[in-house]
Amino acid sequence: MKPTQQLAETKTPDGATLSLSRHDGEYGIRINGMNLMNTRNSASELELGERGCERLAGLAEPRILIGGLGLGFTLRAVLESVGPDARVIVAELMPAVIEWNRRFLENVNGRLLEDPRVEVRCEDVFATLAALGAEACDAIVLDIDNGPTPMVQQTNRRLYGRSGLGLLKDALKATGRLAIWSAARDGAFENRLERAGFRLQVVPAKAYPGAKRPSCTLYLADMAGA
Ligand SMILES: C[S@@+](CC[C@H](N)C(=O)[O-])C[C@H]1O[C@@H](n2cnc3c(N)ncnc32)[C@H](O)[C@@H]1O
Repeated sequence: MKPTQQLAETKTPDGATLSLSRHDGEYGIRINGMNLMNTRNSASELELGERGCERLAGLAEPRILIGGLGLGFTLRAVLESVGPDARVIVAELMPAVIEWNRRFLENVNGRLLEDPRVEVRCEDVFATLAALGAEACDAIVLDIDNGPTPMVQQTNRRLYGRSGLGLLKDALKATGRLAIWSAARDGAFENRLERAGFRLQVVPAKAYPGAKRPSCTLYLADMAGA
């Protein structure tokens, strides 16, 4: 059996252990030993980035906010979907995750953080949203946690609640799209998105291209002005 190599670990603000490992050429991030994501199952993260940018065609200098860098798949998909004049802000809570991307993950998705379109901010995306202010983004692509029921950080719950959705909505332009990754469908969250005024599409997504069935959900929430 091929060994699993622990490459690095750090503590989250909640005191959980976040670790990066490599097994048989694949990389994975775990939280307290549970899989958060890995390079083998990255199709839904790529799809999130692509679908998040679907409505940007023809827009000059679009601005996209990504919440959560992880292994960089969503960022790669966003960069492949937008032109040279786009600006992509990535908010990543954990300094170690940014370092791991630079130190260990170049051969996974390339030198994404050196792309001149990218600005990486080591902070909670909640703070980024507050700092960017109203109508700052054409798209917001959020994959910071398991979904509305958090695993990485308990305070992430606030972004999926009524006031968090209000903050996300305020940060979007009138034609903007909010794209959110979730491990499971969540009816109450869907109701909150609709009550916040978004036009909602619920997209079942596969973890890898040949998977028999979808294993997670993408929420595409469009501003009503779109
Ligand atoms: C599931 S991973 C994202 C995976 C990513 N979509 C990809 O393609 O690899 C979640 C990431 O969000 C980060 N994160 C968690 N809470 C956050 C927050 N409140 N603000 C910013 N980043 C956060 C985690 O440290 C982790 O890197």
